[in-house]
Parts: sequence; C-alpha cells; structure tokens
Amino acid sequence: MKITETIEQVRQLVKAVRVQNKRIGFVPTMGALHIGHISLIETAVKQCGFVVVSIFVNPTQFSPSEDFDKYPRPVEKDLEICEKNGVDIVFKPDVQELYRSGNLTWVTVEKLTDSLCGRFRPDHFRGVATVCAKLFNIVGPDKAYFGQKDAQQAIVIKQMVADLNMPLEIVVCPTVRQPNGLAVSSRNKYLTEEQKKAAALIYKSLQRCQQMIEAGITNSSQILTEMHNILEEPGTIEIEYISVVDAENLQELKKITGKILVAVAVKIGSARLIDNILVDTGKQ
Ligand code: PAF
Repeated sequence: MKITETIEQVRQLVKAVRVQNKRIGFVPTMGALHIGHISLIETAVKQCGFVVVSIFVNPTQFSPSEDFDKYPRPVEKDLEICEKNGVDIVFKPDVQELYRSGNLTWVTVEKLTDSLCGRFRPDHFRGVATVCAKLFNIVGPDKAYFGQKDAQQAIVIKQMVADLNMPLEIVVCPTVRQPNGLAVSSRNKYLTEEQKKAAALIYKSLQRCQQMIEAGITNSSQILTEMHNILEEPGTIEIEYISVVDAENLQELKKITGKILVAVAVKIGSARLIDNILVDTGKQ
C-alpha cells in the first residue's frame, strides 16, 4: 500500500495503473475508520482492481460551531485498517494541499440541499460537493463509494456527478449497524455507554415508522408524532429534525406515497447523529 500526501503523486500512481486497464475504485473518508468504512472498502475491492482511499477532515464542510478541531484523527489505526483491507493507495493531503489556490470556486447543488441536514448546516453540502469534486478530479476513479447513512450526501453527490458530466459511477452501500441498531458513525465515539443506549432509539423509531407504513398509515404527521414520542422518552435526546421526504427530490411529504426517505437528526450530548430508512410503498 502506498501512502501519499500530494496531488501530484496520487495522479502519477493512478495514471500508471490506468494503463493496465484496471478499474479504479475510490472511497473518500474523513478518517476515524470504522466497520461502515470497511464495508465500503470491501465493496470497492470486490468491484475494482485498484482501490484508493482518501483521509481528509475537510474544513469547508464544518461550520465554526461544529467539531472540526475535535474530530477524531487516529491516523496510524486508519492506515492499518486500509492496509489490512486491501487498499492500494491512501491519499491523505493536508488542508494546504487541497485548498492551496485560495478557492474562489465552489460547487453548490441547489434544491436537494434545502431540506433535511441542509436546513441546519447551511454551507455543509457546498463543502462536501466541492471537496468531492476536487478529489474526483485528482483521483479520476471509475466508481466512488458512499454510505446510505448519509443519504442526502449520496443524493447530492450523484446529482453533482450527473450535472457536471463527471465520468464516474456513485455506488451507495447499505448502512452498517451495531447489534442494537445504532448506525455506525465516527461520531459515536463522543457517546457514553448510557448515551449509546439512548441513541439506539433512533433506529427503533425508524423501525416503528416502517411498521406503521406497512400497516397502511399514509399520514406523515401521525408517524412523526409516534417517532417524536419514542425519541423524547429518555429526555436526553435533542431532536433536530424528523422528516418524511420524497426519496428523489427530498421534498417533504404530507401523504406517504411512492419511494420515500424517512430521516432523523438528533443531538445526544456533544454528538450529532443522523440515520434514515428508505421505504418503497409501491404506490404512486
Ligand atoms: O462522508 C464523509 O466522510 C465526508 O462528507 C466526505 C464524503 C469524505 C467528504 O469530506
């Protein structure tokens, strides 16, 4: 496994592999790798002959009040995980390397970023789309891998790739969960054992929602009330949003129909956690 911090070197390494007609898989990460990232890497290794992982805590997707400074950076452990799981190149630039030019150019994906997390993190998706565009331009992958846990991020990146005619495929992999249902996230590290128990209610509320939809309930507000009740029960969860939206355009739905995304964002202690489920009601 090669480890590089420069754009120049990663480009050269990938160029040398491309002439061998190998498919390039790319897993962009902010490090603090966990079993969710490992499942993305495993899928990339299965589908591609060559896999690049980036480790970069991207400052432009954090607002000044967020956890950029305290975001975990266990670099040695991350490199071990990459090595063990068959990664060919780890690209770990510093901020200066990626934002050297002062950056007057930003990628803004409209409409899809107005709802859900976009309402609460106004410049977040601009930072994510911009850094992904940079990384795609640097690495030049055939396929890039994202997790369903960050559903809005995956939809935004897919739209960017389509709109800007970028020559790669975005592959979205299933959310990986702890045995209690909690979606794995680098931010779970901020939780105490007690808070982890409360955090398991996020998925419980989503499962309850699924049951209600399967029982034929189509009124979103009835479902949202039930989910609020579940999450408010321990008194330690601060709900940022619970939303039922169309799975393609991410617009809020009063009546549940077609393919929908039910998404939750909460704060527990200092951790902001998100999760979601996709439900296909089979009706239009
Ligand atoms: O999901 C993440 O870890 C980040 O948002 C990403 C895609 C690596 C961009 O910084």
